[in-house]
Amino acid sequence: MKIKKAIIPAAGLGTRVLPASKACPKEMLNIVDKPAIQYIVEEAVKAGITDILIITNRGKGVIEDHFDHSVELEEILRSRGKTDVLKEVESIANLANIYYLRQKETKGLGDAVLRAKEFVGDEPFAVMYGDDVIIGEIPAISELCEAYERYGKSVVGIKEVSDEYIVKYSSMKLESLDDKVYSITDMIEKPTLETKFSNFSILGRCVLTPEIFDILSTIPTGAGGELQLTDAMAIVARTKGITGVDFSGTRYDMGNKFGILKANIEVGLTHPETALELKEYIKELAARL
Ligand code: UTP
Repeated sequence: MKIKKAIIPAAGLGTRVLPASKACPKEMLNIVDKPAIQYIVEEAVKAGITDILIITNRGKGVIEDHFDHSVELEEILRSRGKTDVLKEVESIANLANIYYLRQKETKGLGDAVLRAKEFVGDEPFAVMYGDDVIIGEIPAISELCEAYERYGKSVVGIKEVSDEYIVKYSSMKLESLDDKVYSITDMIEKPTLETKFSNFSILGRCVLTPEIFDILSTIPTGAGGELQLTDAMAIVARTKGITGVDFSGTRYDMGNKFGILKANIEVGLTHPETALELKEYIKELAARL
């Protein structure tokens, strides 16, 4: 079954990137010339997803405005003959059917996903973490959707991370199934170095089936006193198995100050308007370090 719906949870507090995220959701922080969440919506659209539900809380207005028409701005750009930028600004409003839902309390990623139960209905769906931007030739979520169609199980996007990061993320119990594809039979959120299964962690993308909602409604809160999506997925992994895909793109953590810097530098080095100047600047700067 083709995946047509995606949820983008964007209601976290973003405490690791304060004060930038005080009045502006971290999902709206910039990479060169676009907010992080636009890269994610574009990835979804490229993968054939048509309906996107963004889970918000504060800063909802800014996200809604970004994906809507800005009549006054478009009028001014038109009257000044700035047709290229006008086309780009107009196209943002036509990317996909975007819906919004407020998570009333910040009770964790699992709780944010649970809010989407009515939107999802009885189809498999994608979850794209609002602070994880993945840049690559093939949309990461397409690679996951293909694995869902091929293996018929829920899918998570995974990558190997260092010990420093595994304790902050999740850890997968897995065996290799194919090139860059794994069979996952258990997982743990925020493990210690003693309780980790491996250094493979879920980074930002999943394809799930609606059974996850019943599980999320019954499990207790987990690490950090939050309802953890990983805890619900661990139950699916232990009973039915989950497929892990080591996706080909590069992932940038927009919930982390260094992740934001890396994203801006690397995307800036490929952007036609900044690439040359930035390359020269980095060389000149490096010589002075
Ligand atoms: P994170 O755990 O990275 O977000 O959640 P956070 O809570 O904002 O992080 P801190 O405060 O810096 O530690 C991953 C994704 O899930 C969303 C976040 O917005 C982010 O995109 N999220 C998290 C929600 O939508 N609701 C929540 O209750 C928690």
